[in-house]
Amino acid sequence: MLLVLNFGNPYNQLLTKQIRKQHVYSELHPQATSAEAISRMRPKGIILSGGPANEAENFDPAIFDLGIPVLGIDDGMRQMARHVGSTVTQTARQDKGEAVIELQGDGVLFQDAPKTQTVWMSQSADVANVPEGFQTNASSAQTPVAAMSAPDRSLYGVMFHPEVSETAYGEDLLQHFIYDVCGCGGDWTVQAFIDQKVARIRDQVGDKQVLCALSGGVDSSVTAALVDKAIGKQLTCIFVDHGLLRKNEASDVKKTFAEDFDTHFIAIDAADRFLNKLKGVTDPEQKRKIIGNEFIYVFDDEADKLKDIEFLAQGTVYPDVIESGGENGQVVKSHHNVGGLPEDIQFELIEPLDTLFKDEVREVGLQLGLPETIVWRQPFPGPGLGIRVLGEVTEDKLAIVRESDAILRDEIASAGLDKTIWQYFTVLPDIRSVGVTGDARTYDYTIGIRAVTSVDGMTSDWARIPWDVLETISTRIVNEVDEINRVVYDISSKPPATIEWE
Ligand code: XMP
Repeated sequence: MLLVLNFGNPYNQLLTKQIRKQHVYSELHPQATSAEAISRMRPKGIILSGGPANEAENFDPAIFDLGIPVLGIDDGMRQMARHVGSTVTQTARQDKGEAVIELQGDGVLFQDAPKTQTVWMSQSADVANVPEGFQTNASSAQTPVAAMSAPDRSLYGVMFHPEVSETAYGEDLLQHFIYDVCGCGGDWTVQAFIDQKVARIRDQVGDKQVLCALSGGVDSSVTAALVDKAIGKQLTCIFVDHGLLRKNEASDVKKTFAEDFDTHFIAIDAADRFLNKLKGVTDPEQKRKIIGNEFIYVFDDEADKLKDIEFLAQGTVYPDVIESGGENGQVVKSHHNVGGLPEDIQFELIEPLDTLFKDEVREVGLQLGLPETIVWRQPFPGPGLGIRVLGEVTEDKLAIVRESDAILRDEIASAGLDKTIWQYFTVLPDIRSVGVTGDARTYDYTIGIRAVTSVDGMTSDWARIPWDVLETISTRIVNEVDEINRVVYDISSKPPATIEWE
């Protein structure tokens, strides 16, 4: 395993994924993880992701003395230099962004690389002089120590980002660190992941019974398939219709899983229960918590009826864990399957996908033989339309979102865009505006269209839907959905916006 310590750089997850792409398992952990804890994890190497200068105060420098190879990137290299007694000076960087470096000597990370190459720099402070016992491996016009190493101590530092595509030989550099310095085997594959998880689930569960929260989405379906592979008949899948699903979704899910799965499948209609709990609640975080809690309570009730259920399998994926503060202590949104858990939970959790990114979850799903229609289904949040009706959730407003969303999906599919746009949906902001229909003044709601391209939901860009398709969508929504007189298109990227509006 290779450990990435999160110094706050937006590329840190990309880095984690780049390593996994090399068939080496990697995990992202908070920068404050102690050297002692790291030593217990027994990683073959540690990478300090870059981050804003001087913000690594919680960092334990004892990791440099563990005897485990370390690659410090950007601020990671600065920390390394500081620890071994070099000075770091604040500079007004000139070569931020693309820069050209010249190699010096024969650094192991730069084997077979051209002497002059382009890299991506983002630093704002310099390692002023190469620390004692280190050699300079590269420099640029503005950055005298752009790469350094002390091979006898297995310490390596680069001031640029090898994980981004702008660094021409970045992938080679990472490979040299992973294989030549850390001696990783490169044998982590999706199949190995499945085998390992199946064995672990069997071990954990024994002859006990497991419940699985099945929403019909990719994450919970892959979880169900994985748990099913591990313990088969001991699994009961429960599908909760919380009344916050898209048009026809509940019936589609029931049909799919009744046909494709052998597992014991129970569908519960809990719409009234959720809507009652949400009455009068307008705060997004409170709504998420309520929906998350209620989900578990519904399961609890069902488990009471079933015998000897001890485990709950959930489709929590890695970004959920990270964004809920598991990795950096900062809550962006409490994703319902993590932050929403009630304290009096009665089950032991099985979350076999909690270290995987979305694209990896899909790979596992395909390998497990799930149909493409499930594996490539667009992501749908656990709190469902509850966070797409902004403010208080009512039956009427849910109906508006449901109808407009169905029109949007219909038109996106007709335009052949459903495979290229990562996620698309409508939201109902709590806005009314003046319009005119025939001769009459209207004072109706606005529908927002959100459509994004993304790889894993961590960042996204707004989809460039052709004008004529947008026009058709807008016209249909205004004509076919009651109480709507205006349609707007959200052209924000993530960050600074998020994909969902709440
Ligand atoms: P945001 O809005 O955080 O969304 O940019 C990123 C991705 O996560 C989905 N999402 C959720 N998924 N439970 C989930 O299972 C949640 O509470 C939740 N909130 C957002 C969102 O639809 C997008 O795909």
